[in-house]
Amino acid sequence: MEIKRLDAPFGCEVLGLDINSGVSKDDYLQVRAAFEAHSVVVIRGNPLSDETQIAFSEMFGPCEKTLKGNPAAGSVFARQSNLDIATGDRIPADDRRMFYQKANMLWHADSAFKPRASLCSILSARIIPSEGGATEVASTRLAYEALDTPTKAKIDPLIAEYSLVWSRGLIGYEFNDEERSTMHKVRHPLVRENPANKAKSMLIGAHAMNIRGWDQKKGLELLNYLLEHATQPEFCYSHNWQEGDVLIWDNRACVHRATPYNANAEKRLMQRTTIGDVSDEAFDREAVAA
Ligand SMILES: [Fe+2]
Repeated sequence: MEIKRLDAPFGCEVLGLDINSGVSKDDYLQVRAAFEAHSVVVIRGNPLSDETQIAFSEMFGPCEKTLKGNPAAGSVFARQSNLDIATGDRIPADDRRMFYQKANMLWHADSAFKPRASLCSILSARIIPSEGGATEVASTRLAYEALDTPTKAKIDPLIAEYSLVWSRGLIGYEFNDEERSTMHKVRHPLVRENPANKAKSMLIGAHAMNIRGWDQKKGLELLNYLLEHATQPEFCYSHNWQEGDVLIWDNRACVHRATPYNANAEKRLMQRTTIGDVSDEAFDREAVAA
């Protein structure tokens, strides 16, 4: 196995790993170290099955169960696709399910709105369109490092608030009353320190709706400023998919977004597993009613 830096501001590629034939503890530890160091790990030529994706994902930690809005709800997969899960046919563009997925085009960190934030996501390309549909990832670690000292000192102690109702509202999607009743705003530290290497990063993106104790207009001004700063090209990597690619990104240290493809003419099926950040447990008690 070999680990090579990407030709990008951050990220690495793992060569010579066959996930389907089983990943040894030693190989996992090398991938994990590369993940902690580089925030994005690309592994090509690995057409995973659901079973092998779950087994590999569980080496990183507990997989989250997927919420109701996703067609794969109740499983550990968040399905990103324009194909109906039951029939395999393309879903019409005006269907609520396609509208829901539009939110993936906003910069975000997966599961920031959950009481336990996410360590990482693992996305496996099962069917990809002939063009478009790249995934862009921005390093909030590089972006934090580039901030001036007074800004770092200002944001270091802040607690931010996150909500899925808020972020879906940004694209005009509304949950029904039953769905809303189960959704609460959560709080996490805005600036996070990686336990393995002490590198700091920011938990920002569409799910972030305010800073605790701040007027929301002022909170959003700061959050929008930080997001704009973090998503400049100098902190970004764009992944152009091939079938069989596996992409791992650090949700503590990155934001990402989907980019468009021709969903009326092409097919796309990506399976995502999302691993919880077990070190984030302390913030369960910060969950508050929206
Ligand atoms: Fe996402």
